[in-house]
Amino acid sequence: MTVHLGLIGGSGLYGLVLDDAEWRPIETPWGAPSDAILTGRLGGMPVSFLPRHGRSHVHAPGELPARANIAALRMLGVTDVVSISAVGSFREKMAPGDIVVVDQFVDRTVGRPASFFGTGCVAHVSLAQPTCPRLSRLAADAAEAAGATVHRGGTYLCMEGPQFSSRAESRLWREVWGCDVIGMTALPEARLAREAELCYATVAMVTDYDSWHEGHGAVDVAAVLAVLAANVALARDLATLLPERLAERGMPCRDGCDRALDHALITAAD
Ligand code: ADE
Repeated sequence: MTVHLGLIGGSGLYGLVLDDAEWRPIETPWGAPSDAILTGRLGGMPVSFLPRHGRSHVHAPGELPARANIAALRMLGVTDVVSISAVGSFREKMAPGDIVVVDQFVDRTVGRPASFFGTGCVAHVSLAQPTCPRLSRLAADAAEAAGATVHRGGTYLCMEGPQFSSRAESRLWREVWGCDVIGMTALPEARLAREAELCYATVAMVTDYDSWHEGHGAVDVAAVLAVLAANVALARDLATLLPERLAERGMPCRDGCDRALDHALITAAD
């Protein structure tokens, strides 16, 4: 099996330059993904990039075709998925512009299809360690090499949105639940990647202090977009630096991401 990097992200990655680049429309048993997928090679490694919200930003977080997105990457042969997304920060030290390579999630989404399994085939995979430790380390190394201030580890609260949190919620997630960052997109991606036996890491790009911070007021979309725009080169450099690091990754995944279903299936196969 060849290591194949999958990238899920936003406009920061649209300028990614791949060898033999081709936008490939793809259909999955769960429908079409958010957009066609840009396939090609970086440093000889196969790379597939999926614009999470579509290139024209047509999918709201709660309406993302997450099953089709993960299935499409898997169908293209992807082994390792690095997901890049914007987040608000609950920690003073995790400042706008910084990167947090998170390692835990708290799920506050509602009604998003979160499993490939269900009627006819039941499976319970473990999410105790929802991200791949090795891929997360390599992604953090690449982000640092790209010049970012990187925080290794953190708890990502995934909210439903599309509205931002109330101040009371922001304080609850921060002070009582101990979360570090907040976003709207990393779940159900992480759950589905585990079910699809893909290594998965989330690179969270801090764009704001959500609404808990006395000195910063409410989240302002213009400010969020300004931070993202300032980080376009960083996102692209990070993605470009990943393949050479990932090339050192041996097979199989030493944390078992690629064998997650070995002991998870309950329904007997015919
Ligand atoms: N994405 C970027 N900033 C966010 C915030 N404060 N809450 C939820 N999602 C976000």
